[in-house]
This record gives sequence, C-alpha cells and structure tokens, in this order.
Amino acid sequence: MQSKEIRLPYIEFSPSEIMDAGITSLVEKALASADLAYAPFSGFHVGVAIELIDGQIFTSNNQENKAYPSGLCAERVGLFFVQANYPDIPIKRMVLVAKQNDRQTDEPVYPCGACRQVMVESAERQEIPFEVWMAGKNRMVKVDTPDYLLPLKFLL
Ligand code: THU
Repeated sequence: MQSKEIRLPYIEFSPSEIMDAGITSLVEKALASADLAYAPFSGFHVGVAIELIDGQIFTSNNQENKAYPSGLCAERVGLFFVQANYPDIPIKRMVLVAKQNDRQTDEPVYPCGACRQVMVESAERQEIPFEVWMAGKNRMVKVDTPDYLLPLKFLL
C-alpha cells in the first residue's frame, strides 16, 4: 500500500495581470457568445472561445432543451464542432466564461465532469495539450492541460 498525492498546477490571475492581448480578445469573444446561449431553463449563459494553432477562433455556448439531459454544455458544443470540422488542426487554448443576469460571473466558471472528460480526450486525440482558461470578472485561472482538471481519468 502506498499513499500518493496528485499535483494540480494552475495559475491564478487578476484580470489586470493579463498581458496577452490574445487572451483578452478570446474572453471578449466568449462573452459575446454567452449572449447567444440558449439557456431558458437555468438562466446560466456559458460562452467558450477556442483558438486553433493556425489562429482560427471558434465560439460556442450552452444549448439547453426541454428534455433537460438533451441539452449540451458550451464546452462540448465547441469542442465537438472544431473536431468535426478541423480534426487535423490542434487546439491551442480555450477560454470559458459565464454570465448570469447579463453580467459576467465574478468567479471563474469551472467545467463540469463530462466536459472535463471530453477535454482530456480532445487533448489526447491531438497528441499535444492545450491551455484551459477559466475567466471570472475578478479572477482567472489557467491550466496548461485539461489533464490537470481530471486526474485519474477514465482510460480504455
Ligand atoms: N454549463 C455549461 O455550459 N458549461 C459548464 O461548464 C457548466 C454548466 C451549462 C449547462 C446548463 O445549460 C447550464 O450551464 C446550467 O448548468
């Protein structure tokens, strides 16, 4: 028997510390996409911006449904779209935001477990990790790979 621990390296920023204009622009795009979410049941509008390594940027948002489990989170809408259309262009980074009552959440939005599973498999599939940025109004958190969000992940 051995007691083990898992490290979770992440970087926390206040928005004023972000020097990368690319990230600021991705946050703005994700916020604009959150405004297009279809979330009549939760009122929680999630927006995602995904940047591919060739510079293309795609946005997505959550799509709810009267049959609740049929809805899909913003992260999976975006990841499945880029992988359906650009399977050979790796993702460089993705940014997540959320809005409630037309206002960005103060704290970062952290992805649900199912989205983490899809993120780790997306990184595995492209064979290089991608950054995940979770942006709140007051605080942002970045991990260098989705693996850090889902230790002991399901593997086949
Ligand atoms: N949601 C996302 O789109 N992404 C997340 O990371 C967390 C939750 C959506 C699902 C549902 O439409 C709403 O937010 C409330 O859970």
